Amino acid sequence: MTERTLVLLKPDAVSRGLAGTILARYEAKGLALAALELRTVDEAFSDRHYAEHVDRPFYPALREFITSGPLVALVLEGERAIEAVRSLNGATDGIAAAPGTIRGDFSASNRLNLVHASDSAESANREIDLWFPELGQV
Ligand code: CMP
Repeated sequence: MTERTLVLLKPDAVSRGLAGTILARYEAKGLALAALELRTVDEAFSDRHYAEHVDRPFYPALREFITSGPLVALVLEGERAIEAVRSLNGATDGIAAAPGTIRGDFSASNRLNLVHASDSAESANREIDLWFPELGQV
């Protein structure tokens, strides 16, 4: 089933010069770009994106990080794209993430973990609508 998913190459990916390397992995898997933009987001936008996390103890530091500099927001499209991207990304915690995954290869942190991806069809719809409202639903 063809799906779309929202992906963020977080500020650590951009500042470390890993955006192209990470994007190449998604493209090599066969996922197609449906949207891509360099953006810096403010705290209010972070609160909307991470609505389910705003009350978590780690959220203030996460918000400071995600608003700290430019990130790349993109929408990827392909067969079971949500699962494909999450599998390429690896576990949230870079230290626990398997080698061969993006986080497993390049991150040693559970906050500075380089990428975000939608975790379900519902969150993909919500997040794509938030970041790229002009794109519409598939
Ligand atoms: P992401 O996939 O963007 O979804 C929520 C983010 O919160 C996650 O990636 C991490 O960057 C961050 N996160 C999750 N758990 C923790 C934690 N225990 N400590 C710090 N940051 C976390």
